Amino acid sequence: MNQSGPLRLFHLSDIHFGLEDTAALAWAERCIAQEAPAAVAITGDLTMRARHGEFARAAAWIGGLRAPVTVGIGNHDMPYFNLAERFIDPCRRFRAMQARIGSGAGLDGLAPADLAIVPLKTTAAAQWRLNWSKGRVSGAALAATLARIDALPAGARVLVAAHHPLTEAGTRGTALTRGGARALEALARRRVLAVLSGHVHDAFDRTHETAAGPVRMIGAGTLSRRLRTTPPGFNELTITGREVQVRVRSFTA
Ligand SMILES: [Fe+2]
Ligand SMILES: [Fe+2]
Repeated sequence: MNQSGPLRLFHLSDIHFGLEDTAALAWAERCIAQEAPAAVAITGDLTMRARHGEFARAAAWIGGLRAPVTVGIGNHDMPYFNLAERFIDPCRRFRAMQARIGSGAGLDGLAPADLAIVPLKTTAAAQWRLNWSKGRVSGAALAATLARIDALPAGARVLVAAHHPLTEAGTRGTALTRGGARALEALARRRVLAVLSGHVHDAFDRTHETAAGPVRMIGAGTLSRRLRTTPPGFNELTITGREVQVRVRSFTA
């Protein structure tokens, strides 16, 4: 990878093993094999109900991809039926899957390019509101992400990978992320190239204004059968310098 040349990444989200679209998934896998993107970023909701069998299938599929992959956790990836586990260690099954596929959280430095994919956790095991599926950026989660960004070499290009959009993006599905506005302002101050997310199952690309300047928000659709308004698909990102081009790749059977 040449720093001055364009870098191509695939951004996938919301595969939801358990209710995945097998034809769309096979197509995405073929695209990755044939087009060899520099990396694949998957922004959460790997499973439907965080069942062990669903994680096993996610690990097998992701492990078979011929590209560096980073995976983030979504609200569906925390135990749903086992409340004790949900409260004591909600990310345990997800971490076990990550360990199986040998993927860390984020790609801090896609050597030799100066591009990093840094995770931001937006899931909460429980919240002070009825709908726990919505987003939340805790102070600790934001601090962890900012510390990773600040540890990168000066001038590094950063993509942040979250599950929930940090503010509403005009899609039918909502994220209502608490702490999202504060996170967006902190990320705008660090001039991240974009914040990647999923959760709403429709693709979007918009620029959000904050007191610290603009920040780009890019959402990928879904490769599951849980469709909202658009067909299954993923995003192809082409990064040239600090410019990010988004192409929505849709699957039509
Ligand atoms: Fe989802
Ligand atoms: Fe989600």
